[in-house]
Amino acid sequence: MRKLIIATQNRDKFQEMKEGLTGLGWEIIPAFEFPGAPEVEEDGKTLEENSLKKARVLSMFTDLPTLADDTGLFVEALGGQPGVYAARFAGENCTYQDNVTKILKVMKGVPQDRRKAFFKTVITFYQPNREAQQVAGDVQGFITEEARGQGGFGYDPVFLPTGLNKVFAEMSLEEKNRISHRGLAVQKVRQLLTQP
Ligand code: IMP
Repeated sequence: MRKLIIATQNRDKFQEMKEGLTGLGWEIIPAFEFPGAPEVEEDGKTLEENSLKKARVLSMFTDLPTLADDTGLFVEALGGQPGVYAARFAGENCTYQDNVTKILKVMKGVPQDRRKAFFKTVITFYQPNREAQQVAGDVQGFITEEARGQGGFGYDPVFLPTGLNKVFAEMSLEEKNRISHRGLAVQKVRQLLTQP
């Protein structure tokens, strides 16, 4: 089976991506299981830059085709913050819970019609000696006034997709993948992985 590296240290992201990539004849290997794989500093200003950097570094290290996801959360009332810096919104080495607490705090009192937000994921497919390919997925929604649900990760307890009454953290992995930023990007990746 052809091997495909997923350039992430994040087990939650890996689970979602792996689930969306089954049945294509690729063996999916996370970077955190590849001996000596380097951690990549996400110092780009865009999702495209960070995603490309992660995919390129891991592909060059492993000499294998590699996928890398970079995701941001863009909140209208915060002028697009936390954006590309979603992982560190509450500070260096913060937890998912710290970020949820912080976003609820800074959004306290913001009326419903100004709580719009979207997630965007860019995934780069990097193959040795080929041009990199990028795809994207996004989902529109709202930041809730309190955290709900037990599933998912990151900001899932406070993200309500437009037109639905469940936050991501109240959905199964399959339900979230069907409509999420990452799930939609992964569906496009499936087409890249089946091309000759
Ligand atoms: P990055 O792509 O590793 O920079 O991820 C940015 C941060 O956004 C993560 O640490 C999570 O806190 C958050 N995040 C990424 N994807 C999701 C998601 O699908 N749901 C909720 N939060 C997410």
